[in-house]
Amino acid sequence: MVPTVTAIGNRKGGVGKTSVTLGLAMGLSLLGRRVLVVDLDPQANATTALEAEGEFDIFDVLYGGEAGTLGQAIVQTSWKGIDAVPGSESMSRIESEVLMTPEMRLKTAAWNSVELEAYDHILIDLPPALGRLTLNGLIWADRVMAVTEAAAFSVRGVTEFLETVDKVKSLPHLNPELEFAGLIINKTSAPLTGEHSYQINELQAEYGENVIMPVIPQRTAMQDSVSSRMPLTKLSGPGAAALTEIFVEHARRLDGGK
Ligand SMILES: Nc1ncnc2c1ncn2[C@@H]1O[C@H](COP(=O)(O)OP(=O)(O)O)[C@@H](O)[C@H]1O
Ligand SMILES: [Mg+2]
Repeated sequence: MVPTVTAIGNRKGGVGKTSVTLGLAMGLSLLGRRVLVVDLDPQANATTALEAEGEFDIFDVLYGGEAGTLGQAIVQTSWKGIDAVPGSESMSRIESEVLMTPEMRLKTAAWNSVELEAYDHILIDLPPALGRLTLNGLIWADRVMAVTEAAAFSVRGVTEFLETVDKVKSLPHLNPELEFAGLIINKTSAPLTGEHSYQINELQAEYGENVIMPVIPQRTAMQDSVSSRMPLTKLSGPGAAALTEIFVEHARRLDGGK
């Protein structure tokens, strides 16, 4: 079994990268897939939400010289069917460090991890930056998805993020095989406001089929899921049910392209 590795990013913070990563993980696990979430963001919000704690975290793997392989840092989370490699605040140091081929560390750590063969999908929650950490994710990933709000600033973040993706694809020693798996629009108003409809149309004009439907509406259940550290399936109310259905649809698409 070779897992599909999908990196989820945007240059901008707060657009929902972590929430969408967790939603997709939940959706894939509902489809019966084995999922591993790799938290590459120094803020480690996905780690907190998943209650992923273990002896090692991503920093130990890449810089500790102890763990060495990604597999050794894998922990079970409190979310059914989802494992994780916990993130670490220390990862912010990597952004500014200068070393030989430091962008290859994650891929190298994955290379020797037989443990990864247990998964169908690996989702990488990227930080809101285009530095070394994001490059580590993009160089290892098979696919990349972007998440955006229907607002001008987040859209610019997508453009910058995808320019970095193009750079990674254009260099033979980086990741020419990296595939753009689409753009998810998050936090839309229901019903859609004029501004949101306008931005969605603009995104469709620019990215065409790559804009993945349905859009994900703004619902408090999304915040509740992260703050209560529980998947949407464990929350009651129409918002949680509606979001679960949407994430299963996105998960099916992600899984189908395997
Ligand atoms: N569809 C949504 N509806 C409501 N709140 C959302 C939605 N998506 C994300 N949020 C909230 O927006 C904030 C930022 O989301 P997060 O996933 O942490 O973004 P990022 O990882 O891109 O920084 C969080 O408080 C999160 O709960
Ligand atoms: Mg995040």
